Amino acid sequence: MNRADSKFTSHRMTKAFAPATERNQQPILDVLRRALPSSGLVLEIASGTGQHASFFSRHLTTIRWQPSDASPEAIESIAARVREAKRGNLLPPLELDVRATPWPRVDADAVVCINMIHIAPWKATVALFQGASKILKEARHLITYGPYRLHGTHTAQRNAAFDQRLRARNAEWGVRDVDDLQELGEETGFELGEQIAMPANNMTLIWTRRVHRPSYDG
Ligand SMILES: C[S@@+](CC[C@H](N)C(=O)[O-])C[C@H]1O[C@@H](n2cnc3c(N)ncnc32)[C@H](O)[C@@H]1O
Repeated sequence: MNRADSKFTSHRMTKAFAPATERNQQPILDVLRRALPSSGLVLEIASGTGQHASFFSRHLTTIRWQPSDASPEAIESIAARVREAKRGNLLPPLELDVRATPWPRVDADAVVCINMIHIAPWKATVALFQGASKILKEARHLITYGPYRLHGTHTAQRNAAFDQRLRARNAEWGVRDVDDLQELGEETGFELGEQIAMPANNMTLIWTRRVHRPSYDG
């Protein structure tokens, strides 16, 4: 599991903890409360330590939360947190690499992806949008959170430095531009609805699935 932005430590062999995840969980929850449907299933992509899955499922009790990740180490940590939580609306993790085709059949009412886009190759972001477009019905949301550039410019000097560190670590990683994501959204049937400024120079982007319909001239 990769954590470039925060310390990643292990407790009792399997349960990992990331301080940044602890810090951002409440502001993200505040957005999810109004953006998610009042009930249904949420597929979380790249759940990492499982801290968010545990926290969100505790506070969004009418939602069933389906965590997932590509990394076996992450799956172990998420599973440990699911066992510990003993919460009916928190499901055991799915091992899901967004680049897999097809994705497992999950009847999701929303897809949430926090802090993966910048810390994976661009093709993983393409796969995220393509996979989400296949499982989400019209008007459902894909919600992404992380640092982003706007029209080619970093929103803060700290993000520029973070971007440099990411690219030094892996040339295929990097802070993505919202313009590029919007282009990808258009190709895969997502419209960018809201762009919400979050603490620590991050943003939440709320994408809405639009099913293309042919237009008739009369
Ligand atoms: C920085 S961590 C974020 C974890 C968690 N969402 C959080 O905010 O604490 C990035 C996560 O993305 C996952 N990831 C990277 N590439 C992935 C892929 N292709 N498919 C699914 N998950 C992926 C990693 O395994 C890791 O758990």
